Amino acid sequence: MYNIISKINLANNVKQIEVQAPQIAKKALAGQFVMLRVSEKGERIPLTIAGKNIDKGTITFIFQEIGKTTASLGRLEPGDNIPDILGPLGHPTEIKKIGTVAAIGGGVGVAEILPVAKAYKEAGNKVIGIIGARNKDLVILEAEMKQACDQLFVTTDDGSYGQKGFVSNVLQGLIEKGEGIGLVYAIGPVPMMKVISNLTKPYNIHTIVSLNPIMVDGTGMCGACRVSVGGKTKFACVEGPEFNGHEVNWDELIKRLSLFKDKEKVSFEKYNAECLCQKK
Ligand SMILES: Cc1cc2nc3c(=O)[nH]c(=O)nc-3n(C[C@H](O)[C@H](O)[C@H](O)COP(=O)(O)OP(=O)(O)OC[C@H]3O[C@@H](n4cnc5c(N)ncnc54)[C@H](O)[C@@H]3O)c2cc1C
Ligand code: FES
Repeated sequence: MYNIISKINLANNVKQIEVQAPQIAKKALAGQFVMLRVSEKGERIPLTIAGKNIDKGTITFIFQEIGKTTASLGRLEPGDNIPDILGPLGHPTEIKKIGTVAAIGGGVGVAEILPVAKAYKEAGNKVIGIIGARNKDLVILEAEMKQACDQLFVTTDDGSYGQKGFVSNVLQGLIEKGEGIGLVYAIGPVPMMKVISNLTKPYNIHTIVSLNPIMVDGTGMCGACRVSVGGKTKFACVEGPEFNGHEVNWDELIKRLSLFKDKEKVSFEKYNAECLCQKK
């Protein structure tokens, strides 16, 4: 059992929880994730380890309530327990001295880019952060990113905060200005990572993305997380989740992510109806 120590609402439907998990905290590195189950009969879902505190023995998750499992996780409070957490899983981010690195996060992907930005900064790189959200209310971790980066740009799709437009617009401007970016690291919705990868390819700027296919076991046994990278089949849970964005078959990933949409919708509606019943 993993005890929840604290909980913060970061934005509409985006929550941060800190969980007592000393063994995982000791081993976790930037880029890694866990598979967790909210109830003993529930499904397992992958969540990135957004932060850790070795002294307290805690790890932090930041998640968006998007369906049944993330919504039921969001209903837990400090003092509640999570039955199982498996991890840390996946390859840690490869941290090197590159020079100038652009760390780009979209939506809840900002939670995942933060430890990466910190690690690149600690390795002596100049880190330019670019974070984006649909609107002002959905911007998360701005202060933390500002601290982790040498420079930070914020965009909103509707212009309600920061620069109006997408994170890719800022990146394009920086490249055209000759900023000398040696590596782009992008984490966020699949369409965003696809756009960023397509943008950097003609400039030959190495681009790493963190893929989020459906995962069932997280241990390389089920095959659910397979993605095509460089014409080869890869299992994102054990061979990723980070890959060269220029080699990802984006259209196939988008198609596979929509495979269970109908079933997920039914399950979420049923869960919401049950929650309403319990409140009556
Ligand atoms: C390695 C990895 C790390 C992740 N880290 C985080 C994180 O730190 N914070 C966070 O909020 N989310 C993260 N995700 C996504 C998270 O796992 C999904 O949001 C979650 O599984 C949805 O479960 P659900 O039952 O609530 O929703 P469902 O009802 O299962 O799905 C709702 C909608 O979410 C989308 N979805 C379903 N599964 C995934 C998935 N695996 N990845 C992306 N979208 C999905 C689908 O479009 C679907 O329509 C991560 C995914 C991976 C693979
Ligand atoms: S999630 Fe089962 S093989 Fe990757």
